[in-house]
Amino acid sequence: MEFPVSPLRLPVLESPRLRLRRLKLEDVPDVFQYNSDPEVVRYLLWTRHTSESETRADLQRVIERYGKTSDLRWGIELKSTGHIIGGCKLACRMEHKRAEVGYVLARPHWGQGYAAEAVREIAHYGFEFLELVRIEALTFAEHVMSGRVLDKCGFQVEGTLRSYELIKGNPTDLKMYSLLRSEFEAQSEKQKQNQMQNLETQR
Ligand SMILES: CC(C)(COP(=O)(O)OP(=O)(O)OC[C@H]1O[C@@H](n2cnc3c(N)ncnc32)[C@H](O)[C@@H]1OP(=O)(O)O)[C@@H](O)C(=O)NCCC(=O)NCCS
Repeated sequence: MEFPVSPLRLPVLESPRLRLRRLKLEDVPDVFQYNSDPEVVRYLLWTRHTSESETRADLQRVIERYGKTSDLRWGIELKSTGHIIGGCKLACRMEHKRAEVGYVLARPHWGQGYAAEAVREIAHYGFEFLELVRIEALTFAEHVMSGRVLDKCGFQVEGTLRSYELIKGNPTDLKMYSLLRSEFEAQSEKQKQNQMQNLETQR
């Protein structure tokens, strides 16, 4: 394999409970379920979808862009059911070896650590295969749940960007988080050492 891998390529990524894969038109009902939920879209850039045809048009745009853009978008499939329970993205700026991560989950699947599981997998792909040096995330300053996901993945808060974007017509404060490759590698090394220690104590 040539390194870095082309940022136009969207690989299937697997974690213990999730499969991150291309979205398909067959996924419209699953995607509509969360995109039509006002609680889910509260801290997102788009307003809630009111019909499946809106979701279909949106997915069609995503599907047409596969292979043409380094704005990578995966559906999050729950392996145990085969259903799409959310989505995530890695929007790459390869000239800076930097990318922005984003994620959304259907409400029945909140609180089970799925977002962090997906972000860890994407971060591994970004640092290891795309050779990124930085992955960042922007969240509404008051969005505690999203902040927890990033904390758990080892991201650091860099600060609050005041009235940074007009979101749904309102100037919105956004928190900037980031994770550097060196930090991710140190975390992975520590995890490996802990696993080795656990194996030793089990013997
Ligand atoms: C933000 C989001 C992705 C979190 O994903 P998740 O997989 O549920 O995250 P976690 O299970 O790690 O939970 C994160 C925190 O949220 C809180 N939380 C979880 N489920 C909750 C629920 N049903 N109600 C209120 N708080 C909840 C907990 O405090 C948890 O922190 P803890 O693990 O320290 O207890 C998910 O809530 C979501 O999709 N929200 C809508 C889309 C969105 O806002 N995306 C982020 C844009 S920046």
